[in-house]
Amino acid sequence: SSNQMWGGRFASGPDAIMEEINASIGFDKKLYAQDIRGSIAHATMLAEKGIISHEDKDKIVAGLNTILSEIKSGEFEFSRKLEDIHMNIEARLATLIGPAAGRLHTARSRNDQVALDFRLWVKEELVKCEKMLTDLVGAFLDRAEEHAETVMPGFTHLQAAQPVTFGHHCMAYVEMFGRDRARVRHAIDHLDESPIGAAALAGTPYPIDRHMTAKALGFREPTRNSIDTVSDRDFALEFLSVAAICAVHLSRLAEEIVIWSTPQFGFVRLSDAFSTGSSIMPQKKNPDAAELVRAKTGRINGSLVALLTIMKGLPLAYSKDMQEDKEQVFDAAENLELAIAAMTGMIRDMEIRVDRMRAAAGAGFSTATDLADWLVREVGLPFREAHHVTGRVVALAESKSCGLADLSLEELQAIDPNITDKVFDVLSVDASVASRQSFGGTAPAEVKKQIAWWRARN
Ligand code: ARG
Repeated sequence: SSNQMWGGRFASGPDAIMEEINASIGFDKKLYAQDIRGSIAHATMLAEKGIISHEDKDKIVAGLNTILSEIKSGEFEFSRKLEDIHMNIEARLATLIGPAAGRLHTARSRNDQVALDFRLWVKEELVKCEKMLTDLVGAFLDRAEEHAETVMPGFTHLQAAQPVTFGHHCMAYVEMFGRDRARVRHAIDHLDESPIGAAALAGTPYPIDRHMTAKALGFREPTRNSIDTVSDRDFALEFLSVAAICAVHLSRLAEEIVIWSTPQFGFVRLSDAFSTGSSIMPQKKNPDAAELVRAKTGRINGSLVALLTIMKGLPLAYSKDMQEDKEQVFDAAENLELAIAAMTGMIRDMEIRVDRMRAAAGAGFSTATDLADWLVREVGLPFREAHHVTGRVVALAESKSCGLADLSLEELQAIDPNITDKVFDVLSVDASVASRQSFGGTAPAEVKKQIAWWRARN
């Protein structure tokens, strides 16, 4: 038998494979609440404008509310024959209230309906992400405050570069996740236009009021171009872009946690709650959560590339290709939430091994730049020459397998006779860190200013 929603011109029903490739109910049932909200706003507007009777509108709204509770309680039977969430709900409405149900789809198409449902869903998801990122930033602010004076090696090329504080390192992530949250807010602002009323693509001859539905659904205003409205999935692409950038940040942090928690580094100890054991090696404590966060980035980035590729080259307006948008967004959203939540837990729980960080901070001649700067400041050497002199000091220490501060004054003076014993004041990691008071630098006083700036904005 032909389709009860659009089968008027069809003599027979679809092939089983046609039905299978066409149906989206398996995943778009997630949109049921948004679909019902949208339909209630649409029906209410139709009645206000005299396009349907108030009596029919009341039946429609009551029926939709019944369906909402049926779906919530799990008693609703979804049918693949009815393709998608929109037609599943409308068919059930017809069973519940009879012919009045057929008036709901006046001045509307599934094209603007799905654009509406999906926008509402993505908007809610973005609001959720905003809150979760605020939590993650909060976790970092707490750790940064606690460790504003904890020295650790700062790295470039993953080689010890200059000492920094763990608090400063935490604040680098605050900046990154803070930018992610700003991108989330921007994405919300960007998608805040209502698609409903664009109809199939050309608008509608009925005297609808799109400002009324936009307002009822919490949008700032209606979209302006009906063709664009049903063709546009920028809001989904923006969500995925924001998610991908955030996932990349999470993966960098995850990688650092994996490195830091090795016995070789030993900078942190993960809590039992966020690590796992080995079924063969009893001594193991593995950073699986961090590794999975690192891996989730692959699928989130994949979702972005998938939807970009789906949309690429699509002629205006709606094409069924666009039905493939949802699984990408749903999967990315689910995994991004998991990754942010796992990371927030790990950051809050992990033990910072202050002594190990301090010992590593002094290794690798990490205060060599401080020596060069001292030669510039106190001896008056040009920086390039000071760099060269310091290089010879480093070579000497390396040949003696000792640190810069372990060399004697005589040994230093043999390289440059102008060096005095005051040089030892700048060779310690604490002196090095304390001296970097430039705006945004690693000095504890400066890091505390950064923390205060963010506290006022989180
Ligand atoms: N299930 C469809 C989707 O997700 C709904 C829109 C269908 N519109 C149409 N003209 N076939 O995109």
